[in-house]
Amino acid sequence: MNRADFDFVRSLVKQRSAIVLDDGKEYLADARLAPVAHQQGFASVDELVRQLRTRLSNDLSRRVVEAMATNETSFFRDGNPFEALRKHILPALIERRSAERTLRIWCAACSTGQEPYSVAMLLREHFPQLQGWRISLLASDLGIGVLDHARTGRYSQLEVNRGLPPTMLEKYFQRCATVGRAGTAEYQIDDSLRTTVDFRPINLIEPWPAMAPFDIVMLRNVLIYFDAETRKTVLRRILSLMRPDAYLLLGGSENSMHLADRMEPVQLGPFTCCRLRIPRPETRDPRSK
Ligand SMILES: C[S@@+](CC[C@H](N)C(=O)[O-])C[C@H]1O[C@@H](n2cnc3c(N)ncnc32)[C@H](O)[C@@H]1O
Repeated sequence: MNRADFDFVRSLVKQRSAIVLDDGKEYLADARLAPVAHQQGFASVDELVRQLRTRLSNDLSRRVVEAMATNETSFFRDGNPFEALRKHILPALIERRSAERTLRIWCAACSTGQEPYSVAMLLREHFPQLQGWRISLLASDLGIGVLDHARTGRYSQLEVNRGLPPTMLEKYFQRCATVGRAGTAEYQIDDSLRTTVDFRPINLIEPWPAMAPFDIVMLRNVLIYFDAETRKTVLRRILSLMRPDAYLLLGGSENSMHLADRMEPVQLGPFTCCRLRIPRPETRDPRSK
């Protein structure tokens, strides 16, 4: 891809998703757009970009933006956040919400669904006392393709091999009668779990639907693709949708430094999560009169 085409693609991607494509990523654009060009009947990526530059179709732009997003994910990704949920966050929230018996969880930027399904399995596996509670598990992403995949709850052998403990595979999935496109086995998550997750398209940089505040927000491995200003804006908007004692879980290389005045890190075992800063009563300097 030549420089001018790359600049066009990256400004389109930035404008529609906030994802920043660094200099020198032409090879990445070529590799990710080749399947789109093929599916859409273009002879090459160059031809696809030429078409976009001549007439900016919404559908084609969406496909290009989605193809340029990194959808890397896995079940129980990174382990520690899920241990923190199991050992600290959920027990504390269950105690604090015991009168209202509601819990609201949002996995923003959920990709193909492994993250919210991991939360659903964890709730089912370790918190039987939540039976009869109103649990809302919202999972969103900007990608229509990844959300379609997530809604099916169907995963390849490779996908289940990544992070899903064999006991959970056995307990919560059924092996499909047909094989997948790669000719390997596929597994279907139980309907009783699949239907607990509400998958919705939400672009983090566009207006969001009206939503009640959440107890837990998982915003993992997406801020890294944005510039500092966008990270701050997204965090500020997320914050406005968190209950005062809610928990925000970010990815391993992300933090809430951008809103250090309003959020503070809290160490939960080996995992650091973020909470709203609790306004502390001003302490008077005893020497002042
Ligand atoms: C690397 S995946 C992270 C998936 C999951 N949270 C995890 O940690 O395993 C990043 C996801 O962010 C989504 N994404 C990127 N920009 C977005 C935006 N502006 N709004 C919503 N989702 C976005 C991508 O489509 C992609 O599925």
